[in-house]
Order: sequence, then C-alpha cells, then structure tokens
Amino acid sequence: MVWLTEFGGPEVLVAGEAPDPVAGPGQVVVEVAYANTTFVETQFRASGRGPFAAVPPLVPGNGVGGVVAEVGEGVDAALVGRRVVTSTGGSGGYAERALAAAADLAEVPDGLALDEAVALLADGRTALLQLRAAGIGAGDRVLVLAAAGGVGSLLVQLATAAGATVVGAAGGPRKAAVVAGLGAKLAVDYREAGWPEQVRAGTGGLDVVFDGVGGDLARAAFGLLVPGGRMVSYGLASGSWAAVPAETAQARGVELVAPRRPDPALLREATGEALAAGAAGRLRPLIGQRFPLERAAQAHAAMESRAVTGKTLLVVRGPSA
Ligand SMILES: NC(=O)c1ccc[n+]([C@@H]2O[C@H](COP(=O)([O-])OP(=O)(O)OC[C@H]3O[C@@H](n4cnc5c(N)ncnc54)[C@H](OP(=O)(O)O)[C@@H]3O)[C@@H](O)[C@H]2O)c1
Repeated sequence: MVWLTEFGGPEVLVAGEAPDPVAGPGQVVVEVAYANTTFVETQFRASGRGPFAAVPPLVPGNGVGGVVAEVGEGVDAALVGRRVVTSTGGSGGYAERALAAAADLAEVPDGLALDEAVALLADGRTALLQLRAAGIGAGDRVLVLAAAGGVGSLLVQLATAAGATVVGAAGGPRKAAVVAGLGAKLAVDYREAGWPEQVRAGTGGLDVVFDGVGGDLARAAFGLLVPGGRMVSYGLASGSWAAVPAETAQARGVELVAPRRPDPALLREATGEALAAGAAGRLRPLIGQRFPLERAAQAHAAMESRAVTGKTLLVVRGPSA
C-alpha cells in the first residue's frame, strides 16, 4: 500500500505496510487489481483541499477495481469472487486490499475489462451528470475544457453521441491531437493566444461550456457563450473557479450551472449507466498512463505537471486480473 505521510509534494506518497483490512458489518474487502487516481487527489495530497475529510497519515485513494475477497456481517456471501469497482469512502484505495461499503459496489458487466471499469468509475458518472445538467440537445455547440483529461475525454464522446457539435480545448499540440481523435469537430490548443477566436470562427458562438478548469481559461470560454447558453462548472484544476458574477451572466442571458454534490442513489445510478455504456462500446475510457502502485508518487507528479492524457491508473495486480 501507499501512505500519504503528510500534505506536500508527490514525495509524501510512500510505499509501506499495514495490517490487512477486515470486513465489518455491511462491508467487503476487495482484492485490488487497479486503483483509480483523480486530479482532485493531487490537490488533496498537496494541501488537504478537496472533498476528503481526513488528515494524514492515511492511505489515499477513493476508487478501486478488483475481486471481492471477503464479506462482513449482513453482506451476501455470493459476492465473493465477483468483479467489482467501488468508491472507498475517500481513502484506502492505494492498496492491495481495500475496504468498501457493500452498498457502494458496482459489478463490472461482462465485456468490460477491469481497468476500463476503474477508469470509468469516477469520471464516467461525473461526465454523465454534467451532460444531464447541461441539457445537451442535437445541434448544440459545445466546448469542453481540459478535453484530453479524464472527465473531459468522456464529455467529448458523450456530447458528440448526443448530436452536439463539439469543440475540445486542451493544453499543447499533443493533447489537441488526442482530442481530435475522440471525435471532436474542432480541437484547439489553449496555450496558443487567439484560441477563443478560433473557437468563435469554428462555431459562431457556443451553447454550452463544460468547465473542469476554472480561472482565466474558463472566463475566456464564458465570453464565447451566446444568449440561452449554459456554463457548466464542475471543477477547478487551475486552483480557482471561473467566478463569473451572477449579474454578468444574467445580463448576457447565460445560465450558470453550479457544481452540486449528488445524492448517493444518483451516483450509483450514473455509475451503472457509465459501466453499461463502456460494456456496449458507446463510451471508451482513455487510459493514458499506468504506474505500479508503489510508484504513486511518480503518477501524481506526472498528473500535476499536466503531462498526462486521459486516465492514470495504479496497477496492483496487472492486466490479467
Ligand atoms: N474525476 C472526477 O470524478 C471528478 C469529479 C468531480 C469533479 N471533478 C473535477 O473535474 C476536473 C477534471 O478532473 P479529472 O480528474 O478528469 O482531471 P484531468 O482533466 O484528467 O486533469 C486536469 C487537467 O486540467 C487541465 N488544467 C488546466 N489548467 C490547469 C492548471 N492551471 N493546473 C493544472 N491542470 C490544469 C490540465 O489539462 P491541459 O494540460 O490540457 O490543460 C490537466 O491535465 C477537476 O477539476 C476536478 O475537480 C472531477
């Protein structure tokens, strides 16, 4: 397993030991094949910021995929041996064996590999919920920021499948090429000055912006929305929200769709939908990097330096698991 010894740089992630977890009432132990990572986990590691209410030392990681090894009291014993993905309640995921609430398990459908299921676990439901929040319709002109990232690469696919005209924006030519390969009509590099003009020229203006970045990039994207448009904010990879004043949006006739914490039932439903779409081949997670579990520090360093595309997985038991 990997410990977060204190908040700080990637080097605070250190391989170590702990007693094997034991499933309590309502819990299971998962023998982990792949541990998920998210950009939010790098922000939490760096400063404690984010949705995880915990202090180090702790084993980080909020998502795993593997096989149920043990069930606690009150849990159906038939789950043992099943392929599952699950949240871990905010911590404990960067490990060979992880504890999870039985209620959080999602069975991996036949036809979907475990690594793909882990890649879809958090990003798939997040992307689906943003798509619903935006009320995407056929013909909408849609901009996805950080479009080569975990959530962004799925939003490009989902919005395209919904009949939208999709522009994907990302940092650098290599990432723009990845976005073009996902089916975006136009892929722009927002490290280049003049990218907003490129988007305007290609679309005539936008109906929807999906913003997982915030800051200046998001404010520039807001400027491209037409009256009746929707600005869907769901993340702040840049460190700050777009912070567009409500009066400014109202004056422009643009709706600001703020981030929401969905209830557990909705999350479960969206997770199941994402896995089913993955199994049917309608949603293809882009797994850009894999690191052995004990090299979690290197994985985090790559993620926060923006060197990665798509999903970064920690491999615990390898591809045949
Ligand atoms: N993963 C989830 O389930 C989930 C759930 C809720 C909310 N979110 C939010 O969704 C956003 C995306 O999450 P993700 O896990 O899919 O991450 P990601 O998009 O794979 O990685 C973040 C990307 O943001 C871009 N970025 C733009 N400005 C940046 C800056 N100043 N510093 C660092 N990165 C910057 C980088 O791409 P470029 O190099 O292309 O700019 C970077 O690769 C996050 O803000 C997160 O808070 C995610």
